[in-house]
Amino acid sequence: MPFRHHAGLPPTTTERPVTSSPTPDLTRLPQWQALRAHHERSGERHLRELFAADPARGERLTAEAAGLYVDYSKQRVDDETLHLLHEVAAACGLEARIAAMFDGRKINVTEDRAVLHTALRAPAHAKVTVDGENVIPAVHAVLERMAAFADKLRGGAWLGHTGKRIRNVVNIGIGGSDLGPVMAYEALRHYSQRELTFRFVSNVDGIDFVEATRDLDPAETLFIVCSKTFTTLETLANAQAARAWCLAALQDEAAVARHFVAVSTNEKEVAKFGIDTANMFGFWDWVGGRYSMDSAIGLSTMLAIGPAGFGDLLAGFHAMDEHFRSAPLERNLPALMGLIGIWNTNFLGAETVAVLPYEQYLKRFPAYLQQLTMESNGKRVTLDGRAVDYATGAIYWGEPGTNGQHSFYQLIHQGTRLIPCDFIGFGQPLAPLPLPDGSDQHDLLMANLMAQGEALAFGKTADEVRAEGVAETLVPHKTFPGNRPSTTILAQRLTPHVLGALVALYEHATFVQGVVWGVDSFDQWGVELGKVLAKRTAAELTSEAEPELGHDSSTNALIRRYRALRDG
Ligand code: F6P
Repeated sequence: MPFRHHAGLPPTTTERPVTSSPTPDLTRLPQWQALRAHHERSGERHLRELFAADPARGERLTAEAAGLYVDYSKQRVDDETLHLLHEVAAACGLEARIAAMFDGRKINVTEDRAVLHTALRAPAHAKVTVDGENVIPAVHAVLERMAAFADKLRGGAWLGHTGKRIRNVVNIGIGGSDLGPVMAYEALRHYSQRELTFRFVSNVDGIDFVEATRDLDPAETLFIVCSKTFTTLETLANAQAARAWCLAALQDEAAVARHFVAVSTNEKEVAKFGIDTANMFGFWDWVGGRYSMDSAIGLSTMLAIGPAGFGDLLAGFHAMDEHFRSAPLERNLPALMGLIGIWNTNFLGAETVAVLPYEQYLKRFPAYLQQLTMESNGKRVTLDGRAVDYATGAIYWGEPGTNGQHSFYQLIHQGTRLIPCDFIGFGQPLAPLPLPDGSDQHDLLMANLMAQGEALAFGKTADEVRAEGVAETLVPHKTFPGNRPSTTILAQRLTPHVLGALVALYEHATFVQGVVWGVDSFDQWGVELGKVLAKRTAAELTSEAEPELGHDSSTNALIRRYRALRDG
């Protein structure tokens, strides 16, 4: 049985509301002010000094859980910083909020929803209640249906309309209905059934669909239309294109039933689109789009790596969940990472976080984290609607190492901005490639990871540069200030389990930050205005009439110029 887990969740009940009381005024909390005073006293201490003062620091400021080893000793924190951060977290009610999330309370207050991605990876015997109903049996029922479908398709028993075997799977979705699936597919490609081709179409730019399908045979292609709401413009447009592409070749409406499946919470819209709801895999409004890669949205992942592999992925998520809900804050990886992020953002003034996986299979991980972190914590008002007077969500970005080293690392080392980095690496390569001297290219890769963290932390002083005989005019150019913080995350090998733990680590760290900042990390109202304006503008682009007066003069001029360029 693929979906067996070791630990269980205790029975819970649903209560609400979580926050009818005002969110604490963060910067006026005595604990926050204590942290500020601490920063004024010692926030500028150099990592050289911190390491010199504590020779065991590199071993001590580390923590481990769910197969992940996290070294935060190269962050600009000391024991007092960490203690004060924990005090802030306690003052913000972090432990109660963690419990509230796991218990299915409606902590997404602006949408009046529970936030239960953790239930998606809970074992079958767990009990999590939302509105009086235990949701776990439904979660496992969908997993079982997904597994049955995956086994059929992977085994060649699910055939296309003409009787040909399905060899291509195209996932159509955007945001959380794309980034998780594509990231997980790329990350776990090593474990995937190589005879199957996987493609991912997200952009409303037609090129995405055309390029993804140009070399595929419709008779051998299955589309998974993924959309939580099933109302998303891009996804519906691409699904229509897919349907037309499929029917142009197969010439029979009945083909849709063999070549399209849907993943959604919205049965009505799925049926309206013309996909038989017997071919639909459901999930629930208490799963946020950016927290949904372990729901049925992960169907493409399960098709690629199989039900057992998907079970391992869920078990990795669950192991981190259990750690997060039970480990004391001092050893709690998501709490540590989240709180250190608060320190970097709100006290050291960092605006971004660079995520730098030294693992080519994780090439889409930074993009995945962008939605997870920035759609979650890119907020400017608290749960009770007050404007914040402090910075919230950092800008996440990154590329795999070592490529980034030959591109943007210059700015991280010697530029004027402070950019905390998360390095991610593994003990064992999935694709060993021996070098003539008997070592492996993977050793070179990991040597680079370690070198970057060391160079960023300790830099190179002007005196050290001079001691190398460098001409005085070049000394300032060759000096590295150091004191640039980083965290290093190591695991033995990139497996489905480790990927699950890694994603859950960032999910929960994001939540920790949202709790401290007092924002709703689970809504995304900020994406709405653009959607409304795009709908209105789309109608205007295809009409001859003068653009509406409601636009500004720049938008009106752009509409006119676009029409001229298009028609010219
Ligand atoms: O526009 C943002 C968003 O709502 C994301 O939160 C979501 O992941 C994405 O669009 C896709 O939404 P859906 O799965 O409903 O198509």
